[in-house]
Amino acid sequence: MAEIKIYGNWKMNKDIKETIQFSRELAQQNPEFENIVAGIAPPFVLIHPLKDTLKELNWKIGAQNSFYEKKGAFTGEISPVMLKSIDVDFVILGHSERRNIMGETSEVVAKKIRTAIDAGLEVVLCVGETLEEREKGREKEVIKKMVIESLNGIAREEIIDKLTIAYEPVWAIGTGVNAAPEQIRQMHCFIRDILDENFGDECGRKITIQYGGSVKPENAGELLEVEDIDGFLVGGASLQVNSFLEIIKITENKRFKKTR
Ligand code: PGA
Repeated sequence: MAEIKIYGNWKMNKDIKETIQFSRELAQQNPEFENIVAGIAPPFVLIHPLKDTLKELNWKIGAQNSFYEKKGAFTGEISPVMLKSIDVDFVILGHSERRNIMGETSEVVAKKIRTAIDAGLEVVLCVGETLEEREKGREKEVIKKMVIESLNGIAREEIIDKLTIAYEPVWAIGTGVNAAPEQIRQMHCFIRDILDENFGDECGRKITIQYGGSVKPENAGELLEVEDIDGFLVGGASLQVNSFLEIIKITENKRFKKTR
């Protein structure tokens, strides 16, 4: 069974004061989860003040982007080698906000994944269709292209060891609108099939596929009815300690304690 991972994506939110406050609250609550891999990806400049608390709790610390070169004259960029050197565990790549606002293509995402894996980071690859693409019935075609092109040059073992996929329909991100459980189930199964077909049997079954898009404590339980969801990538609701912990608790209860 794939690991259940719940990662927070803070996006461009919080300053140092708010981060220290979050860190303190989290440490005070001292949450313990046996079966869930939890982590947070703050903005680069807030990795340092958050990191120690997360590491003490055995959580992972992530970054929201990294460049495709290891070092050099690339003003303003951050290399995955630098991230690894400060003990970052994972990096989110190919998020729809980077694809749509920064114009990042799957070709660029593939280069970034290559360098991030070479640096020893876990990669969370985000894929998702726009509302227009879904309304035209093109969502599967779009996701297939994104997955295959973004993983160009990555080997099966690297995918199994280092990759998490987050399916995040663009129309569900930050909008309060969730994809319906059946829509998510179909897409997660489809992504597993693409991986099996292109990288070898069972590849798709071995990796974690998170769902992302307006996940909150109020809807996490219903979403978890979908067995093919292996956790969440959480934006807005990861900014508050209580709502983020609640999502993790609900997941642990639903997935690991239901027979007790
Ligand atoms: P949201 O963001 O939970 O605020 O919709 C999710 C994401 O973009 O990763």
